[in-house]
Amino acid sequence: MEKQNIDWGSLNFEYHETDKSYVSNFKNGSWDDGELTSDHTVTISECAGVLQYSQSVFEGLKAYTTKDSRIVTFRPDLNADRMIDSAKRLEMPAFPKERFIDAVLETIKANESWVPPYGSGATLYVRPYMFGSSAVIGVKPADEYQFRILTTPVGPYFKGGAKPVKLKISNFDRAAPRGTGHIKAGLNYAMSLHAIVSAHAEGFNENLYPDSATRTKVEETGGANIIFIKGNTFVTVKSPSILPSVTRRSLEYVAEHYLGMTVEEREIPLTELPEFEEAGLCGTAAVISPVGSINNHGREILLPSGMDQMGPKIQKLYDTLTGIQMGTIEAPEGWIYEVK
Ligand code: PLP
Ligand code: COI
Repeated sequence: MEKQNIDWGSLNFEYHETDKSYVSNFKNGSWDDGELTSDHTVTISECAGVLQYSQSVFEGLKAYTTKDSRIVTFRPDLNADRMIDSAKRLEMPAFPKERFIDAVLETIKANESWVPPYGSGATLYVRPYMFGSSAVIGVKPADEYQFRILTTPVGPYFKGGAKPVKLKISNFDRAAPRGTGHIKAGLNYAMSLHAIVSAHAEGFNENLYPDSATRTKVEETGGANIIFIKGNTFVTVKSPSILPSVTRRSLEYVAEHYLGMTVEEREIPLTELPEFEEAGLCGTAAVISPVGSINNHGREILLPSGMDQMGPKIQKLYDTLTGIQMGTIEAPEGWIYEVK
């Protein structure tokens, strides 16, 4: 398979149209068979549930070219499960798990030439999503839905690649205690836009949100979970209002079983931040982006790993995770799905 003629190394995290997207429609209580399409536009009612009341959920995963030239993806079963949880919370019909996985593999296969080569620093981002497509004017769930998968080749989420990022403890809230922080709904991102634009204008890369109820504990950033290193311990957040990141759950396993670290998933008070040696943002898009500093309302906490490079433990986690994803390190059973 000839790859596209692209300067893969210069890609940012931006949308580029590829060959095929996947589409399936839910109507009269069931999903149709679904198909690949070359039409990268969507036509819906001006009164569609997604347009009026933001009834939309999505997922994100990646396809990789391995060192031995296979095309694989990482734990799509967990994205399928999470999308079902997200859909239920917004009163949307679940897209069945096995169909989700098959559709992801089929869509990656149809865009094989867009999966960046091994070692290029780029990957193919896969974005399944679903939205209320029929008209609603009273506040209620739509009757009809569209499930789609688009793909786009991407480089690093944060400009500067592996350079440590500067975070700000946000003055805004991300997720209410019994709200929607644990699901991947578009509405969580719409309401973060003002906070992220403001943080960028102040010279920060991202917001670190504290818990909304007490504003005393670490939650997560707008698009990634956060992990910390203290000695040989991998510390990460336990909270019902953060997104259960596939990357973070995988790193907990990698830390314990590949790197012999102790793993703690627990509440993290903001007052503990100065005690950590290294920190990283983890997610499909972020992979692991090292954190250099965290500004807590004017007080700058500098991570001892510094502003120039990843700390040694975060680097090991990064190398092991990406090694598993790109086929140079043996994966735990069931993590890697090959695109046939
Ligand atoms: N937290 C938020 C708010 C996110 O948007 C994402 C991205 O998907 C993550 C965490 C990381 O999740 P995952 O590792 O499943 O991509
Ligand atoms: C992902 O990592 O897949 C996400 O959806 C995060 C988003 C902010 C790009």
